[in-house]
Amino acid sequence: MNKSVQKKSPVICIDGPSASGKGEISRRVAEKLGYRYLDSGMLYRILALEVDRRAFDLGDRAALLNLVMSLEIEFGGSGKLADAVKLNGEDVSFDIRTDKISKFASKIAVIPSVRKALLNRQIAFRVPPGLVADGRDMGTVVFPDAELKIFLTATSVARAERRYKQLIGKGINVKVEEILRELIERDERDKNRTLSPLLVPKKSIVIDSTTLSVEQVVAQVMDLVTNKRKEDNGGAL
Ligand code: C5P
Repeated sequence: MNKSVQKKSPVICIDGPSASGKGEISRRVAEKLGYRYLDSGMLYRILALEVDRRAFDLGDRAALLNLVMSLEIEFGGSGKLADAVKLNGEDVSFDIRTDKISKFASKIAVIPSVRKALLNRQIAFRVPPGLVADGRDMGTVVFPDAELKIFLTATSVARAERRYKQLIGKGINVKVEEILRELIERDERDKNRTLSPLLVPKKSIVIDSTTLSVEQVVAQVMDLVTNKRKEDNGGAL
């Protein structure tokens, strides 16, 4: 290999539909490997929140790029703070996860200039010793050269039940039928958009977590990482 070509840090991509458990699995795998973690959906949610709050005109591409570059984002950390997100110093952890912003994020995610504006911010997460990135197009568009690509899925009913338990656990009163309906609606939008649709990336490994616990999925992913390292003979992962 040409030595002048600098080797990029390794990336593990975990793509999949809403509530497939990507976030929890990715965070745990990143922790085990000492890698950085990118929750790309969070970036879409943060942008959706800003656009909504400021009644921002998405038609102005230069202003959109400026807005994306100026967002100061801080992620929580581990344990109870794992879900915490600060935007320009303000805790927006709750605001970015409301139904309204979830829906709006998936609506603005179909706009090509939005995806383009967020691309470099996502790529910038790729730093040594490595990255675990979760989303819809991590393995297909953002990190097509990733060492390991996983597509994590589960039946829509299992995903809706998980989300239901999570929300009830947080004291939020919801109906499981309503969650299922919105989840299917969001899946359809993510799968059917023209740009970067949700699809199984080439050479990815599909894990169906319908009947698996978080620990079992994490163990499967860690086995895949170990096998990949052996295959590459002490390679980048
Ligand atoms: O993963 P999460 O549910 O937080 O993502 C919110 C929305 O952002 C998704 O419904 C999807 O429309 C969009 N998204 C995307 N590409 C990504 C991550 C999220 O289009 N890589």
